[in-house]
Amino acid sequence: MTMMLAKLDQAHHFHPFTDIRPEMNPPLVMVAGEGCVLQDSNGQSYLDGAAGLWCVNVGYGRSEIARAVEEQIRSLAFVQSFNGMTNEPVAKLSARIMAKAPDHIRKVFFGNSGSDAIDSAVKLIWFYNNLLGCSAKKKIIARQRGYHGVTVAGGSLTGLPNVHRLFDLPIDRMLHVSAPDSYHSPERDVASYAAELEELILREGPETIAAFFAEPVMATGGVLTPNKEYYAAIAEVLDRYDVLLVLDEVVTGFGRLGTWFGCQYFDIKPDIICTAKGLTSSYLPMVGEKIWNVMEDKRDTVAVYSHGFTTSGHPAAAAAALANLDIIEREGLVERAGRQGAVLAKRLTESCANHPLVGDIRTCGLLAGIELIEDKASRKKFPDSIAIATRVVQQARNNGLLIRGLVGNVAAFSPPFIVSDEEIDEMISRFVHVLDMVEHDMRSARLNV
Ligand SMILES: Cc1ncc(COP(=O)(O)O)c(C=O)c1O
Repeated sequence: MTMMLAKLDQAHHFHPFTDIRPEMNPPLVMVAGEGCVLQDSNGQSYLDGAAGLWCVNVGYGRSEIARAVEEQIRSLAFVQSFNGMTNEPVAKLSARIMAKAPDHIRKVFFGNSGSDAIDSAVKLIWFYNNLLGCSAKKKIIARQRGYHGVTVAGGSLTGLPNVHRLFDLPIDRMLHVSAPDSYHSPERDVASYAAELEELILREGPETIAAFFAEPVMATGGVLTPNKEYYAAIAEVLDRYDVLLVLDEVVTGFGRLGTWFGCQYFDIKPDIICTAKGLTSSYLPMVGEKIWNVMEDKRDTVAVYSHGFTTSGHPAAAAAALANLDIIEREGLVERAGRQGAVLAKRLTESCANHPLVGDIRTCGLLAGIELIEDKASRKKFPDSIAIATRVVQQARNNGLLIRGLVGNVAAFSPPFIVSDEEIDEMISRFVHVLDMVEHDMRSARLNV
């Protein structure tokens, strides 16, 4: 069975973010999930230290969500959201999301993924500036190492060369500043990042800069965790030049930092919040009052806002999201994410900080990145050819642990919010074992040179 499925998949499935050489991707067919544990078709179990792609926050096997989706599909499988048509779950969900979001956030727009949330935000910003008659104010600034998805606008804002190379990205109008990296650039203070942003705005002309996009914690870029002072300094520059702030909360939204949104954790006031994963299959950019007020003022000019997707506000997705929020609230999972994040941080530090491969451990809420380093003392990075994070992730998989390998030689944990202390201990014990194995292999390889 396993071989048959693996063959079918290898022959026909065009995988995202996957090396297209089949020998680089040993087939792994997953068949079941419960809590934090996944099972493959050979009966082998895996502790999911990553919650899928930082998204299965309430854990696997929640029949409550399955029932909600089934009931909704049986009673009403689809309703379009164009021209004011709506449905019960999405109307209730919109109100419920607004109750969690900061007070100045006024409206929620539904789509299908994190990437199209970003594209929807970009188009809304261009639309908004056209309404205001600021037809030159269209450029958008993001950060190197940031990840904002892969669509044409989102992929352009992503600050990773592999997402640009051979795809003709970034498109023009998209600019990047440095990522805040206190480990490799300890000499840079908050003021220097704010000054770099200001210089770029002045060089390009403030009348051309529309918005700044940022993840509260840079996830894919290596779990880079700036502080409140950084965001306060950035916000001051943005205010000075009337530049909108968009927070990409695709990873941090709906509880991962121990607050409903990352903007509440860092005390930031964004004009738009983009989010996706944590609300289950739907996604949503949320629009702040600054933009919504202009839309309302110009309602006669706007007439129809000609943007949206067939499945925007899908009733079954909204039903899944409502059931998911029920679970998060009933089980106090946002607070639990904060608590278990502290446990994860403490245990990682105790068990890994002195390991020769570990340079830096960065944590924020239930999100942890462990930077793997060739030389601890000088902070010398491994050459890309070693692909150290890939080795560790692969070896972890062989040892029944799923974690993620990120940009900058970082291995990352972002388990479901329900993760127990015992599961955290087991994940870390397997991780340390894997680090020992990889280090041993590399030492032997060096001796054999
Ligand atoms: C911060 C951030 N923004 C956007 C995205 C894109 O989301 P999607 O894969 O749903 O398009 C991701 C995906 O990991 C992400 O981490």
